[in-house]
This record gives sequence, C-alpha cells and structure tokens, in this order.
Amino acid sequence: MSTPTARQVSTARVKELIAREEEAFRKARPRSHKLWEEARQVMPRGVPSSFQDASPQPVFADRGRGSRVWDVDGNEYVDFHNGFGVMVVGHAHPKIVDAVSRRIAQGSHFAQPVADDLDVARELARRFGLPQWRFTNSGTESTLDAVRIARGFTGRQRLIKMEASYHGHHDALMVSVEPPPELMGPPDEPASVPQSDGIPPAIVELTSVVPFNDLQALERAFSRHPDDVAAVIVEPAMMNVGIVVPDPGYLAGLRDIAHRNGALLIFDEVKTGVTIAAGGATERFGVTPDLIALAKAIGGGLPCGAVGGRADVMEVIEAKRVAQMGTFNGNPLTMAASKVTLLEILDRSAYAHFDALAETLQGGLDGVIAEHELPFHAITLAARGGVTYRAQRVRNYRDYLEIDKSFAYLSWLYQCNRGVLMAPGAEENWTLSVQHSADDVQRYVDNFAEMARDLRA
Ligand SMILES: Cc1ncc(COP(=O)(O)O)c(C=O)c1O
Repeated sequence: MSTPTARQVSTARVKELIAREEEAFRKARPRSHKLWEEARQVMPRGVPSSFQDASPQPVFADRGRGSRVWDVDGNEYVDFHNGFGVMVVGHAHPKIVDAVSRRIAQGSHFAQPVADDLDVARELARRFGLPQWRFTNSGTESTLDAVRIARGFTGRQRLIKMEASYHGHHDALMVSVEPPPELMGPPDEPASVPQSDGIPPAIVELTSVVPFNDLQALERAFSRHPDDVAAVIVEPAMMNVGIVVPDPGYLAGLRDIAHRNGALLIFDEVKTGVTIAAGGATERFGVTPDLIALAKAIGGGLPCGAVGGRADVMEVIEAKRVAQMGTFNGNPLTMAASKVTLLEILDRSAYAHFDALAETLQGGLDGVIAEHELPFHAITLAARGGVTYRAQRVRNYRDYLEIDKSFAYLSWLYQCNRGVLMAPGAEENWTLSVQHSADDVQRYVDNFAEMARDLRA
C-alpha cells in the first residue's frame, strides 16, 4: 500500500500549483460563476444543498450521458463524482430512460402501493440477507427510520456512533461529524459535538461517540451507559474522510459487543450498498447487521432510500408500535428506476466491470505513487475508491486529521481542469458507473501522473 521510500513534498510547491490551477479553473467557468452570483440572491451560498458549495466556486451542470457530464460552460468531464455516488448506472442509461418514461406516461404518483415495490423489496432482501424492507426518499430518512426502529424495539434511547461519520442531516446523528480538533475531546473517549447550530443539546447528549476500528472504546462506552443503548450505527467502510476500511474482525466485534449489551447494530450502507458489492458491505465483509439503511445508488438516479431489518425487529412497524411513513415512499417513478437498476443493470457483469476498472485505477495509481516516491496511497472497493494523501493507512478520524488537505484540493483542481469531475469537498472519493470505460479511468490516472510530475518538478 504505502511506498517505503516516500518523500515529503514541498508545501510551497503545492501552494504555487493550487494558485495556478485555481486561476485556470475560474477562467474556464465564467457562466457557472455568473449563475452562482445570481443564485446567491435567492439561495444562501447560491446552492440548493450546502454540500454543493465548494471552493473555488460551484460548477453548474448542464447535462450528462453515459460516463460523461457537461457543465454550463461547455466543459466535458468523465464523471467521477456521479452525483455523490448515486449514478452507478451512468447518465441517461437507456433502460432507466425507458422505464421512467413509460411509468410517467401512466401517472407519476399515487401514494398507493405499486407492484414494483415488491420486486425491489425482494431484491434488497436477497442481496442483503434481511427479510423486511420499507422505502424512504433519502439516506437521511433511512438512518432516521433505522434509529427510531431500534429505539422502539429496544425501548432504549442512547445511540453510539463513530467519530467523523456522516449519516444524514437529522439531529440525532449530526454529532461529531468531523468535529473541530479543539472540541473533539480525548481520542479514547471523544466528546459529542453538534455539527450545526440549531441542534438541541438534549439530543446531542443522547449520542455517544467512539473512534472507528476501536472495540475497546466501544466496550467502555457501553459500560458507561449500561442498559441504555438502543443501537450502534456504523458506516461499515467510512467514506467521508477518504475511505477508511474496517480492521479484520472489527464489524463482527461490533455486532457481538452490541448484542451482548442488548443493543442493535445498524449498518449505514447509503454509500457502500450495491456499490462495493451487490450486497454492499454486508456481503463484502461477511457481517449481517440487525438493520440496514440504504439510499443513493439503489434508485438509479431518482430520490430513493430503504430501511431493512430482521423480521422480529421490523415487527415494531407491523405491530404499529413504530411509525414509518412518507408521502413519496415507494413513488412509482422511483420504484420503476430502482427495479431496472437492481434487476437489470447492476447484474453480475456490472460488478465484474467495476472490479476490472478498480484494478486499472489501483495499478496505475500505485505505479505513479511508487515512481515519484509520494507519501500517498490509493484504495479501491469495486465502484468506489480514492487516494489518501498519506503513506500509512488511515484507521480513524484522528489519523485523518494528520493529513494535509491541500493535496486533496490540488488533486481535485487538477482533475476538474483536465476533464474529470470530482465530488465537491476534495475528499477524493470517486464512484464509477457501468458506463465508464478503461479509457475513462485512465484519464484519472494520467491526470494524477501529471500532478505527481509537477509536484516533483
Ligand atoms: C453514509 C451516509 N449516510 C447518509 C447520508 C445521507 O444521505 P442523503 O443525503 O440522501 O440524505 C449520506 C450522504 O452523503 C451518507 O454518505
């Protein structure tokens, strides 16, 4: 993984390259800039979601097809952002266009169950090995429902989450999501820090925080709150601070400790689900939790989410003890797109394709890193991957904090300026689609190689 001979990179050189690339970035995007300025008059920060607000300025998208997107200035990109990991089917996939067009011509919303619900729920049950499913419209709703189900099932209130993990924008889990170092507390017992103003301290207090990949810290958190914890929620491979993979045995350990203490284990597979394997992290790491939250890629580009669980746990909904609802849950357009995505597009050959592309990326990036003796490493997990800008593996948030973020930002600028769109936020995760080709991913490697040469120049 890491290069034994890795050498420091001059920070002055990084700064110099950032200034050059930012100028080129702005120069090529005047229309985006104009729209952004106008948008600021009617939307805070000029964007519909704060995640779309990134330096040096947002890129306004125009259209997409296959592995490509075009911005409003006519710049063409290979899409490595893929709508924050949603568009694993690629843009305007003919099967999705067909299914959604046929469905909308027959009515787009009834708030009544439709036959497609069954096919999607059955397929999720097959892939994830949990029998009962309900639909939502986003990852936020899925983790919100999972938490409520766990609290209803156990009759307990407290949650345990991992430091830095993001599980959506509801109060209970907007706790210690990349907390500022001065507030985060000691590494073995992190503080619970609200992510935003507007979250009541009484809610924050109900969420305990532990470091990822640390079972002893979890044991200690349980012993501080005996008979009080409803659930441990974890993103089985963390994907918002680069990619942080679980230590061998860690996920099984989480489940054992949770169960020994009468709590449930929730996997937030909003990003990992159907992208790192057909059955997400549950399949890839071989540990089945009690509840799973899904969203993003399962909807083929429409707003879709799902929460699934053990039969006895989901019984709380059947028995009307826990309310799970939503006007748009199981929307016919969403279900039509999800059905085609799961039953026709993301088949066995799709995952073989992701693995082949991942191999090209891993091999190409490892080669560049070794050649230039860079203190970086690449991680690939089927359709997902990224570069971590330090030589050693990152095991938790505290490790991540040691990374100089200017490398990720520079890389983001290099890629965007050379025809590869990356997710705003410079965290360097990418998502591939079934429509990406070997040439598409080679473009990323070539851009990375150019940056490596420039860093050493
Ligand atoms: C792991 C994880 N969980 C939950 C969410 C929230 O999903 P949404 O933005 O669809 O509400 C996200 C969003 O990025 C996520 O990455």
